[in-house]
Amino acid sequence: MSRASPRPPSLAENLPGIEHILGDGLALDEFLTKYWARQPLFIKGSPGKFVGLFDKQEYRATMKAAAAEAQLPPDFFVRVTYDEGGVQGGPRIDIQPNEVERYFATGATVCVNSIHLVNEKLGAFVHRVKSRMNHPGVVRLNCYWSPPGRGFGAHFDARVATTLQIGGRKTWRFARQIATAWPLDGASYGTARRVKEQGGVESAPEVVQEMVVPPWTDFEEVTLEAGDVLVLPAGAWHAARAEGDESLALNLAFDPARLHVLVFDALAPFLSRREPWRGLRPSPAGKERILPSLPPDADELSAALRELAGLLEQMAADPAQLWRHWIERAAMSDRPLSSSSSSGAPAVSLPQDTRVRMSRQLTPLIVAGSLPGGGEMLSIYLPAGGEAVNVVEIQEADDQAFLRGAARHDEFSLTQACDWPELRDVDPLRILRIAQELVECGVLEVI
Ligand SMILES: [Fe+2]
Repeated sequence: MSRASPRPPSLAENLPGIEHILGDGLALDEFLTKYWARQPLFIKGSPGKFVGLFDKQEYRATMKAAAAEAQLPPDFFVRVTYDEGGVQGGPRIDIQPNEVERYFATGATVCVNSIHLVNEKLGAFVHRVKSRMNHPGVVRLNCYWSPPGRGFGAHFDARVATTLQIGGRKTWRFARQIATAWPLDGASYGTARRVKEQGGVESAPEVVQEMVVPPWTDFEEVTLEAGDVLVLPAGAWHAARAEGDESLALNLAFDPARLHVLVFDALAPFLSRREPWRGLRPSPAGKERILPSLPPDADELSAALRELAGLLEQMAADPAQLWRHWIERAAMSDRPLSSSSSSGAPAVSLPQDTRVRMSRQLTPLIVAGSLPGGGEMLSIYLPAGGEAVNVVEIQEADDQAFLRGAARHDEFSLTQACDWPELRDVDPLRILRIAQELVECGVLEVI
């Protein structure tokens, strides 16, 4: 039996995950039920908390690499602002990656949107967090570099913003009560306040009328130091300003996953096979140039909508279909393509002392499902070029026991796996075979 050649050290080797960000004092479940989309959360860290993830040197190297790229991903862009972290924000100016130092020297805060798209390690970090949380929305990593006294004027964003302070100090002011739950877009505090004060609540635009716009004096204040974390729900008013020295921070931004998008995902394959849903024909007004009160073929449209209502009834009775699309979106990755292949390792023959672990590079998602004739099936999804692919389905109880054990242990040798209580009666050759299969498709990695 030839020895499997170990993979090169994974980029994701020692990357923090969501549990590391939250720290020992807060479980992921509690974070999601108590804080996510509800209230701000400050987590005091230690200066070493994000060492190895990112620093000034890596920031410079990343921007240099981005400047050398012939074509950058559309979601990657660089902007600057001269805001001072007060009530009112100023304009944003788009710049090129090679202009970052020059603008910073003039007193600008430099914001790099989706920096993880040009840095493989940060891409792996983002995917690790997203898949661990099973978050079906897009997750991005933005980077903010501010000179002393500069930052962002007060506003809210349409996403959950998780600031990881990398270097320097930054003072955040934020309102504890969110302006509105899951807003569709961001808004400027100065503008909203002016509209409310000058226009009166009743005459303000509907979107502002519905917002909570507290006085600036009600905002709370916290100064973040290296290793500290501040999580703000979507719709939370906030402003930020570097203190004393320059500040470098990453922001893990969780775009909301909208239910109607998942519902559409689930319905689209069916609806796209039905002619009434595939194309509406134009219907101009007659000679009088006045459109009738009903669309043409109104009966056909009503019939199509009744069919849709039936599909929705079915989905309401059995939301498993929706759940599958949720999982697929959570397993998707928009990391640089070079790192998101699911082809896995070449065929190998593993000796028993091989040490393996669940792939930290690809972060598989394992989903429990039922077999039509009864019994359970475990499906494994991996990211592949911007999509999630169901790479393997495991139906045999012994194989499932191995997979569950593999998911539970940080790392293990196959000899150790044979000694797990649930696998003691299983033929070691079978364990080797399933381990090998999982290594070949990239679910397990050899270390
Ligand atoms: Fe913001």
